Amino acid sequence: MNLKDLYINFFKKRGHKEIPSAPVVPENNPSVLFNTAGMQPLIPYLMGKPHPYGARLVNAQKCIRTNDLEEIGNTTHHTFFEMLGNWSLGDYFKEESISYSYEFLTKTLNIPREKLAVTVFTGNEEIPRDEVSAVAWRKMGIPDERIAYLGVEDNFWIAGDSGPCGTDTEIFYWKSNEDAPKLFDSEDNRWVEIWNNVFMEFYKSSDGNIKELEKKNVDTGMGYERVVAILEGKDDNYQSSVWNNIIKKMEDITNLSYDGHEKEMRIIADHIRTATFILGDYSGIKPANTDQGYILRRLIRRAIRHSRALNINQDNDWEKEIAKIIINQYSKYYQELEVNKETILSELAKEKARFSKTLEKGLKEFDKLINNLNNSLNKEISGKSAFKLYDTYGFPIELTEEIAFEKGFTVDTRGFKQMYKEHQEKSREGAIGKFKGGLAGDTEIETRLHTATHLLNAALKAVVDKNIHQRGSNITPERLRFDFNSDRKITKEELIKVEELVNKWIKESLDVEIIQMTKEKALKTGMECVFIDKYPDIVQVYKINDISSELCGGPHVKNTKEIGTFKIIKEEASSAGIRRIKATII
Ligand code: ALA
Repeated sequence: MNLKDLYINFFKKRGHKEIPSAPVVPENNPSVLFNTAGMQPLIPYLMGKPHPYGARLVNAQKCIRTNDLEEIGNTTHHTFFEMLGNWSLGDYFKEESISYSYEFLTKTLNIPREKLAVTVFTGNEEIPRDEVSAVAWRKMGIPDERIAYLGVEDNFWIAGDSGPCGTDTEIFYWKSNEDAPKLFDSEDNRWVEIWNNVFMEFYKSSDGNIKELEKKNVDTGMGYERVVAILEGKDDNYQSSVWNNIIKKMEDITNLSYDGHEKEMRIIADHIRTATFILGDYSGIKPANTDQGYILRRLIRRAIRHSRALNINQDNDWEKEIAKIIINQYSKYYQELEVNKETILSELAKEKARFSKTLEKGLKEFDKLINNLNNSLNKEISGKSAFKLYDTYGFPIELTEEIAFEKGFTVDTRGFKQMYKEHQEKSREGAIGKFKGGLAGDTEIETRLHTATHLLNAALKAVVDKNIHQRGSNITPERLRFDFNSDRKITKEELIKVEELVNKWIKESLDVEIIQMTKEKALKTGMECVFIDKYPDIVQVYKINDISSELCGGPHVKNTKEIGTFKIIKEEASSAGIRRIKATII
């Protein structure tokens, strides 16, 4: 049995319910572009809302972290990874959590105790030293020399700046073949962190204030790729069983050996895998120039550029070949990859075609720029040139920076951003703030937009076609975006009627009810739900009169009058058979 199955089964046997991975794009949290930890989709429940599955949960969550894209190419970094996690929502706390972790590592995985060490929180003015965890570890048989007390930087965990948080205890594994030293030194990189158990008992607000949460929770995270590599004794993650088939495929495609071409192969393998998961997600993200779509575009284009270094013939379907291996490998756990297989393959190929058209010319332009600069003392590519590479040749600015860096040049990114902004203002699209990810959050507006999305869904059914269903949804503080099935364009007259109907319902001041029921019952009553497999056995339904009933995690307004005036901004095609409406509230 593999690590993932062992982990999930271990916790299921101990009263935990397995919850499916949430989509890679957070459903109700526009402060991050992608889920970066297993706890992120669980924030409302860590804050005290009862989870329909109960107080003990376990899963493998699809996570994406793209902050350090430049690091990809080394042995340990990945942009996509799976996080194994178990949670206690106000149920067990430190001792049980530590005892479960210890039992899993030493009994299920058979890791000798001599190869383990831990860190615990040392205490500060606000939060006392975590003796409870230290005592629990000693009880397990971890000696004092293997318990390090560290400060806030190491043993206090929070996702971003605000939210549920707490002290943590981290578990380290001695990965070297030499005997592990008696005394644990967390700075020695032969000790690698394998598991983080966070004791979430606080909430930190954006002004920095910390208060106690209603319940004391446990949130743990284990990076799947890293631990598999360690257990298989590989220093290079990409040589573990997680990557074997993908790297083998790359060797076949290029007729080259991984040995000597590690960096390029790792970059391509990593980026195509992440792109496959983004495209294969239920969120409906496609390559674009903003937000998640921009990250996706960057990943694919960066992979394409590195594929040239391996002389991969762009007329071959190399990107599809790699994606197929990935889909095959993962669809047992993530069926959405199989469901969205055609989209994944065709979008990868389309993006390759788009970029390949201009890439060659762009690189020539690049060489010209560099030749000119070579003759001067100035080693900086101007914002204007970088913008031309972006606008005319489709070079994401980060790619320009990367190529420039390789050649010993820098880029005036401020100048670039200025030009980009001016351009954006002209075309009235997006804003530079979203460029690198990280949108401003505004939960109240989003909550209103969220309920407006349910009304829009219902109004489309009433006005256009009762067989319309949601195919994707995304909310930012500025607007909602709703994708749905339809073989044709929605006419202007219909859009006006839809808008009027939504506004009529808003004016009627209808209560939004939350009802809990079994998934079976919800299905029987023909409830509107997008991805039934994703939901637990007990589900939550948001009901607005007889107008709308949707399975949904919320949050929603209590009464439709809170929404404001609903306004459709745009109707357009999203992909074959899918239309997209963007709307806002004023
Ligand atoms: N949320 C914790 C982490 O990501 C477990 O490390």
